[in-house]
Amino acid sequence: IVTSASVADGVAVLEKSGSVAETFGIPLAVLLELTHRCPLQCPYCSNPLELERGGAELSTDEWKRVLSELARIGVLQVHFSGGEPTARKDLVELVRHATEVGLYTNLITSAVLLSRERLAALADAGLAHVQISFQGSEATIADRVGGFAGGHAKKLDVARWTRELDLPLTVNAVMHRQNLHLLPDIIELALALDADRLEVANVQYYGWALKNRAALMPTLAQIEDCTATVEAARERLKGQLAIDYVIPDYYAARPKKCMGGWGRQFFNISPSGKVLPCHAAETITGLDFPSVRNGASIAEIWRSAEAFNRYRGTGWMQQPCASCAFKEIDFGGCRCQAFALAGDAAATDPACALSPLHDRIFKTAEAEAASGSDRFLYRNFAGGTVEGA
Ligand code: FES
Repeated sequence: IVTSASVADGVAVLEKSGSVAETFGIPLAVLLELTHRCPLQCPYCSNPLELERGGAELSTDEWKRVLSELARIGVLQVHFSGGEPTARKDLVELVRHATEVGLYTNLITSAVLLSRERLAALADAGLAHVQISFQGSEATIADRVGGFAGGHAKKLDVARWTRELDLPLTVNAVMHRQNLHLLPDIIELALALDADRLEVANVQYYGWALKNRAALMPTLAQIEDCTATVEAARERLKGQLAIDYVIPDYYAARPKKCMGGWGRQFFNISPSGKVLPCHAAETITGLDFPSVRNGASIAEIWRSAEAFNRYRGTGWMQQPCASCAFKEIDFGGCRCQAFALAGDAAATDPACALSPLHDRIFKTAEAEAASGSDRFLYRNFAGGTVEGA
């Protein structure tokens, strides 16, 4: 999702203004969370625990204004996401508008609400790419994880229609302890669906996933198998299927450069118009996120909002990050994870082996993976529903 901003341009601006906040150009791609409404209830959803209600969503005209503004300030690509973006009745109109103002459009969807006619209408409106999430390679597990009966079969239909309409397809597979054994089958599924790309994304633990950590956390042996499977498939399928791979932070030695670094390459816009440095940013308390609704321009928010500047660059870092040789490589890891596990978004991400908390989270992962706890807290507007309750 994340693309590179023009760092070279930014350096020129920095020399002129001396402001870290102005170091980075507008991201080339932006994630638009059109709605938090979704028929699925995935227990690892990256949406905040406090979901925004349908009545708070930006109107069609407001989203169109956002799209026009994004194109004007230099954004090239938008990802329509959610929740489930096809729950918006105006999606075809928004895709058409995005296309008219010159934006490349990607639809990130669970697919279960799409008909062939609506997908064809989206293609006619200029939709350029489709990404479909799969919760497994077969219906029993996949429908249980998504909390939606019949979902897997519908996804297979929509994936087939996507390719019939000659749209490029990415299969997104979120992996965890309860479906990792299906990874070889998921790779075969992506091939059978004629996908261009497969994302093997191990769950990242903030928001809903943090609440479900004990039910989702893989064992170390599973992750080692998973890595070997991905590496072998990448070799075997070179030129046929691109495979992206995200390992779970708790088993990593180095933290990921989350979002390419806070406020450097990425922002997303929430259903009600809040401009966020990452999709999980609202899990960090004490930050105020400006909205596109109250008059500020998006470029101005990107440049000047406190929520973006707080963790931009390296000046905010504490030890061990402040004196670390990797500080401009990983930017201290993930702010949301630091907040979730250390209680301080400015702390070193405990995924880093240099964090004083690293050993503890590794042990937590091992203990939870061995716990045998497998009931999900499903994501919904009621604050979650325990499976089987
Ligand atoms: Fe928010 Fe990593 S998910 S900074």
